[in-house]
Amino acid sequence: MCGIIGYTGTQYAKDIIIDGLSTLEYRGYDSAGIALGGDDIAITKQSGRVSELAKLIPTSFATIGIGHTRWATHGAPTSKNAHPHQSFDGNIAIVHNGIIENCEILKKEITSRGIVFKSDTDSEIIAHLLALEDQSDMVQAVENVANKIEGSSSFLAIRKNDDKIYCHKKNAALTIGIGFDGNYIASDMLALAKYTSKGIVLSDDETAILAKNSVKVYKNGVEIEKDLIDISCKPPKICPCYMQAEIDEIPTALLNTYESFYSTIKKECIDDIKKAERIAIVACGTAYHAGLYGKEVIEILANKPVEVYIGSEYDRARFISNKTFAIFISQSGETADTLAAVNRSKSLGAKTLSITNVANSSITFLSDYSLILEAGPEIAVAATKSYNSQLLMLYLLANELAGNKVKRETIEKLSQEAKTLSTHSIFTESMAKDNLFFIGKGIDELSAMEGALKFKEITYKMAEAYPSGELKHGTIALMDTNCTVIALATNEQDKQKLTVSVSEIKARHAKTIGISAVGEIGCDISLFLPKLEDKLLYPILSIIPMQLLSLSTSFHLGINPDKPRNLAKSVTVV
Ligand code: F6R
Repeated sequence: MCGIIGYTGTQYAKDIIIDGLSTLEYRGYDSAGIALGGDDIAITKQSGRVSELAKLIPTSFATIGIGHTRWATHGAPTSKNAHPHQSFDGNIAIVHNGIIENCEILKKEITSRGIVFKSDTDSEIIAHLLALEDQSDMVQAVENVANKIEGSSSFLAIRKNDDKIYCHKKNAALTIGIGFDGNYIASDMLALAKYTSKGIVLSDDETAILAKNSVKVYKNGVEIEKDLIDISCKPPKICPCYMQAEIDEIPTALLNTYESFYSTIKKECIDDIKKAERIAIVACGTAYHAGLYGKEVIEILANKPVEVYIGSEYDRARFISNKTFAIFISQSGETADTLAAVNRSKSLGAKTLSITNVANSSITFLSDYSLILEAGPEIAVAATKSYNSQLLMLYLLANELAGNKVKRETIEKLSQEAKTLSTHSIFTESMAKDNLFFIGKGIDELSAMEGALKFKEITYKMAEAYPSGELKHGTIALMDTNCTVIALATNEQDKQKLTVSVSEIKARHAKTIGISAVGEIGCDISLFLPKLEDKLLYPILSIIPMQLLSLSTSFHLGINPDKPRNLAKSVTVV
């Protein structure tokens, strides 16, 4: 979602801000902008790529600046709606990540004072409100503005003739980087990786003032002590296609996840899960599909009932209480719907565990316990290796609950098989024009759901996941020569039923491709999975050919799979 970067120090801010924005590009955006401070505030912004924006920025010796990549919510992705936004008096520039829910009321109040809005955004409100505040106490001014805003509102502001950055965090993440040559702030630690390894993670409702040589953090007007923590992370390597690279990294990610689980899992966490009457798993998108897998393995191995909720639906979840143990899965650890679910669970007394790929992300600070995937940074918008790692983490957790220690050799073999599998392609050119169906039964149905999601995300084509046995109750009406059906079969007990479904589909002249661990199920083309020690591990492998076929289809259609339209890597608005 929107990316934010700010710098004040002794270096030229322009280069640092542009570099930070380029790192944030992977999150998905449609426009970008930069404000450089000093005697005047110079704003350059436009729709399109950061590299194009960089060409438009005049030479600047400013040593303070803020930048933003925008993913449109209020108002189209145009130059006027791109951030930074300036106050009516031109003294203040702001960048914002979030959605102001009482936007219409605040806009009315501001326009009634004769102030004319220059953009269609909700964010511009912040610049005007700040300018209307008494500027002699900026902590008070920032807090007053933050208190007027309902919804999520993490923002940075700079003023004319002032070398400080004023920051407020509400929901969307903000991390301060403490450098030798100045101080930095960003919505994503990756953007700070080149400059510093020490930082402060802001919590909700905190205000920070960054000067060249100092950082102060306040809550409710009072300065507070914050821990300086290690925020080091490897800057992502430059790569022609991140999604391809990340699929190639699955074997290593699996081994890292294995190590991470056994070095981090706490006995108290396992005891708390065992004690709970109910387990709730909450996640969005791909992570939700991992949650469905979590239900299967925990119910099968640990014999505990599990409910799985989509993050945005969790506000309706019933029976959440201090007898519930809630598990949250989020690659980024910043997904607003999932964070809201953590807060709701905590307020209802539930104990919480987060499973995330980003240590020091918001979710890790909110949860009682956390497990870090250690899959390495995931830059491509469509999640791949983090999904395989999430499945493994849940498998290990379910085994731990059942009192089993999973042998390292089992995961080494899995990792080896993942490597071999990533060289096998089931892509056919007809996939780029056909309607696609992904079918399976039981645990394979959730893999089918993830296969279909991946395909939609990076090919922009319709794809549907279906329980194989349910097709004949209606959806089979769609089957014809223009359909390709990917059939998954990893469980011996379902082989017969899958074979029947495939023959029903073939009788309607659709093309069929099998991904099978149980031998022949009658498809036109089949990819046979290697033998694994435990059939519950198959979803970790069976998704790989589907990730790859989506990637190949995307290439075939001339789409950049790393930056699919309309999508953001981390969805920080509800
Ligand atoms: C799919 C995808 C999204 C995310 C979802 C949750 O490829 O990337 O569906 O899985 O937005 O994101 P996280 O896991 O960061 O909470």
